[in-house]
Amino acid sequence: MQFDPKRLAQARHVVVFSGAGVSAQSGIPTFRDALTGLWEHFDPARLATVQAFREDPALVWGWYEWRRQKVLQAQPNPAHLALAELARRVPRLTLITQNVDDLHERAGSPSVLHLHGSLHTPKCFACNRPFKGQLPLPDLPEQGASLEPPRCTGCNGKIRPGVVWFGEPLPQATLKAAFNAAEECDLLLSVGTSGLVQPAARIPQLALQHGACVVHINPQPQACTGAEEYSLKGKAGQLLPELLRQAFA
Ligand code: OAD
Repeated sequence: MQFDPKRLAQARHVVVFSGAGVSAQSGIPTFRDALTGLWEHFDPARLATVQAFREDPALVWGWYEWRRQKVLQAQPNPAHLALAELARRVPRLTLITQNVDDLHERAGSPSVLHLHGSLHTPKCFACNRPFKGQLPLPDLPEQGASLEPPRCTGCNGKIRPGVVWFGEPLPQATLKAAFNAAEECDLLLSVGTSGLVQPAARIPQLALQHGACVVHINPQPQACTGAEEYSLKGKAGQLLPELLRQAFA
């Protein structure tokens, strides 16, 4: 059975669950794609854990500043723009992202739930207070370049990226809001995610269990278990604008 795009126009509450694939066509690398994924080239244990930051804060800070630099130089792509447009077309839309960039916001999506934090909200490693200073536009020629983190103006602790590292809990209020939305929605679009990282990966499952229709948008075909689960094979930057065009024609 094919997914009927008109169902998007009929939905009362749409949840969008986005992953790195949504930003891929903006030039931001994903994590697990063969050859181009970040975790193909970098060891998460050395860069994305509390232990890694304790051992080599400059290496970790430099890597995240390199990623922030790439995001600052990138622009939202047609997938981000279509999702912002969709929010204006349906009665209610909740956008849940695993992405740590701000491309959904820059495309015009309001109130994005960032499950894995953000590259743009650094905080103190010691006292957890948000960093008050101005972060300069990084100028990092190399992706492995070390950079000393700035210091907290409150306690002089080292500043760390505001992202969730492996082994850390997700922001609880954000996770609760995301689970609630998944349970309440009638249609969930899961876009550009491998669905391998918990607890975020439970979100489409929760929606299915609560009777919603779930549509996966991904160049890799996704396994569908229920009658109300569909896999649309292709790039988000092409498929989402087309889906909207057909839904609201
Ligand atoms: P992954 O890198 O695991 O998966 C990216 C998915 O996007 C894959 O399924 C690709 O097939 C798909 N994809 C690639 N290009 C696409 C395109 N143009 N349009 C649509 N889909 C495309 O990224 P995530 O699922 O986001 O965690 O990874 C989840 C989490 O793992 C991340 O948030 C990050 C990482 O470790 C943290 O940083 C805490």
